Amino acid sequence: MELSINNVSKSYKQNKALSGFTLSFSPGVYALLGPNGSGKSTLMNIITGNLKKDSGVITYNGKDISKMGEEYLGLLGYMPQYPGIYPQFTAEEYLYYIAALKGVDDPGEQVTEILCAVELDDVRSMKTSTFSGGMKQRLALAQAVIGDPKILLLDEPTAGLDPKQRIAVRNYISKISLDKIVIIATHVVSDIEYIAKTAIFLKKGVIADCGAPSALAQKSDGRVWVIKCGSEQVTSYQNKYKVINIHSDGTDVNLRVLSDAKPCDTAAPAAPTLEDEYIRVFAV
Ligand SMILES: Nc1ncnc2c1ncn2[C@@H]1O[C@H](COP(=O)(O)OP(=O)(O)OP(=O)(O)O)[C@@H](O)[C@H]1O
Ligand SMILES: [Mg+2]
Repeated sequence: MELSINNVSKSYKQNKALSGFTLSFSPGVYALLGPNGSGKSTLMNIITGNLKKDSGVITYNGKDISKMGEEYLGLLGYMPQYPGIYPQFTAEEYLYYIAALKGVDDPGEQVTEILCAVELDDVRSMKTSTFSGGMKQRLALAQAVIGDPKILLLDEPTAGLDPKQRIAVRNYISKISLDKIVIIATHVVSDIEYIAKTAIFLKKGVIADCGAPSALAQKSDGRVWVIKCGSEQVTSYQNKYKVINIHSDGTDVNLRVLSDAKPCDTAAPAAPTLEDEYIRVFAV
C-alpha cells in the first residue's frame, strides 16, 4: 500500500501554499507539523480531492488518483480542521448517516465499537447540538474512521481535547494505524512524538525536514540547555537565546534554552525532544 505525492504545488493567486511537495506514504502514522499557514490543510484537501492542485501527480499503488474515481474515494477517511456536524442528529444517527454515505453494509457493530473507542458510547442517543467542543471533535474523528478507510487524514484531531481524551485519541489512532496510511496535521508536537513513524516539518509549503521523530529530535542534541537563574535574569537570556520554556518554583527559575554553544558556565545539557527541534527549525 503506497500513496505517492510527486511534485505537487498549489497557489492561491500569488500565494504559494504548497511548492513541489514530494513524499511517499506507506502504512503507519505520519505527522504533518508546521506553523499556521504552512500548507498542512492545503495538502490534506488536495489528497482528498476537495481542492485541485496546480501541478504534480498523486498515485495510489501506482495508479493516478485522479483517474480512480469512486475506487479512490472509498479508500479515504477525512476529519477536516473545522468539522461541521448536523446538530439535529444524535451521535449514533450521525455515524449511521456517514456509514450510509460511505456505502458501509450493516454498520451497527462498527458504530458501537467506534463510539466506545472515542468514549461517546454513553451519549450515543444525545443530539450533537448538546455536545461540548471536545465531544464534537471526537465524533468528527469517529466519522472519519467509519468504513475502515485505508487512507486516514486527520486535520488537528486533538484540538480542544482535555489531557485524558487527548491520550485516549492518540492511543486509538496508533492502534488503528497498523493497516492504514494515517496523516495527522497538528500543532501539538507531544501528541505525535511517540506514535508517528515519520514527522514532516512543513515550512511555507516546502518540506523543511522529514524523518523518524527520534532522529529529528536528535538533531538538537548538544543544543538544548537548562539554566538555573534568578527571575531578574530571564529577560537578558531571552534577548540572547531562544528560550523554549520558563519554569519557576517560586525562588529559582529554570530556563530551557536553545544554543549551539554552551550559553553560560552554569548551563546543563538536556536531552532533546522533537519540540526542541521543531522550535529550532521554525524559529529562523
Ligand atoms: N481558500 C483559500 N484562499 C486563499 N488562500 C488560502 C486559502 N486557504 C489557504 N490559503 C492560504 O494558503 C496558505 C496555507 O494555508 P493552510 O490552511 O494550508 O495552512 P495550515 O498549515 O493548515 O495552517 P493552520 O495551522 O492555521 O491550520 C496560507 O498562506 C493561507 O493563507
Ligand atoms: Mg490547517
